[in-house]
Amino acid sequence: MESLLFTPAKIGPIEIKNRVIRASAYEGMCDGHVPTQQLKDYHTAVARGGVGMTSVAYAAVNKSGLSFHRQMWMRPEIIPGLRDLTDSIHEAGAKACIQLGHCGNMSHRRYCGQRPVGASGGFNLYSPTFVHGLRKDEILQTVKDYGNAVRIARDGGFDAVEIHAGHGYLISQFLSPYTNHRRDEFGGPLENRMKFMDMVMEEVMKAAGDDVAVLVKTNTRDGFKGGLEVDDCITVAKRLEQDGAHCLVLSGGFVSRAPMYVMRGAMPISVLTGYMPWRQWWLKLGVNLFGKLMIQDEPFKEAYFFDDAIRFRRELKMPLAFVGGVNSMATINRVLDAGFEFVEMARPLIYDTEFVNKLRDGVCTESGCRHANYCVARIYNLDMQCHENCKLAPRMKREVERNIKKYNK
Ligand SMILES: Cc1cc2nc3c(=O)[nH]c(=O)nc-3n(C[C@H](O)[C@H](O)[C@H](O)COP(=O)(O)O)c2cc1C
Repeated sequence: MESLLFTPAKIGPIEIKNRVIRASAYEGMCDGHVPTQQLKDYHTAVARGGVGMTSVAYAAVNKSGLSFHRQMWMRPEIIPGLRDLTDSIHEAGAKACIQLGHCGNMSHRRYCGQRPVGASGGFNLYSPTFVHGLRKDEILQTVKDYGNAVRIARDGGFDAVEIHAGHGYLISQFLSPYTNHRRDEFGGPLENRMKFMDMVMEEVMKAAGDDVAVLVKTNTRDGFKGGLEVDDCITVAKRLEQDGAHCLVLSGGFVSRAPMYVMRGAMPISVLTGYMPWRQWWLKLGVNLFGKLMIQDEPFKEAYFFDDAIRFRRELKMPLAFVGGVNSMATINRVLDAGFEFVEMARPLIYDTEFVNKLRDGVCTESGCRHANYCVARIYNLDMQCHENCKLAPRMKREVERNIKKYNK
């Protein structure tokens, strides 16, 4: 059968030239929370490398949603910088998308300027931080902030926005019984826990109008006992379809509970702690001692959400994007032939921005990425990079090589 890969497809009001979208993967390239030349160069290279659309990751819709010092924060003053970025992506031949979210209980006091907020209060061991549960007035303001962020994205020239409703960030914290212990209309049964998401979507769809495509990244399951399971997530996905979303990106996992469920493979703990600043010596020490217990390995395999995602395909009519372990031409074809309209890739395009052109030209059929997850460990304190491009301290190098061996037997 002919591959669908290089055929066009639509997401709401926009058409994408082929079926590959660069998945939102936090770049760590927005010093001062603004778009930079480094971010522009990276996404322009990805666009030149042949993807249909590239997604700029993880912009916070307001200040309280920030968790990193190199994370984008959507404000009117960054519109010229966003324009410059999207003009360059467009010139390079791809559409531009931006992921919008709020880190909720994963926000960092140092950058968000206040005690982090979440669906409910308590202590988040993974951040680690005390959290305050959003009051009703704060919920209403946050919902408006999502709409404003979409307007800023449109003024900045983006063709699409991706609302982050998975991975244990704010919307996901409302959805999941693990993080939502509210006793008001936003807590209790799933119907109530979806209310914040519904309100956000209403505001987002209004702001998107008839020319900006709206994708939503959502979980197929949270990935641990006590979180959302597949049936709950299908209910959420159906609601998102009713809410008017144009495409769902089907992922999974929960950063504060099952972080590697999102990505699979091992987390290189020495790399993670090796780059932590000494002022966080207590965190460095804690993660070194207990990291292996807190961050569990999840074995990697190609298209690791496939068995769950196929159930969503059967239940939904809307376009779906598949993400997670799409590493070869064979897997791309398997996913597209199963009825998913798009594939998304993160690590293969961190490894090599030219991957899609190379597939097109028959230069290769598989990515060279071996899921050592060095790029993941780096983003907590630096920018996203593949280990191939970096000089590593010997102990870090040993760990990365161990991971490569372990996950590629
Ligand atoms: C370095 C890195 C950063 C990531 N940051 C984000 C993010 O900001 N938002 C998000 O939704 N997913 C993020 N992810 C997850 C990816 O979007 C994707 O779901 C996951 O890596 C699986 O796809 P892959 O096998 O193609 O890498 C990140 C992944 C990596 C490797």
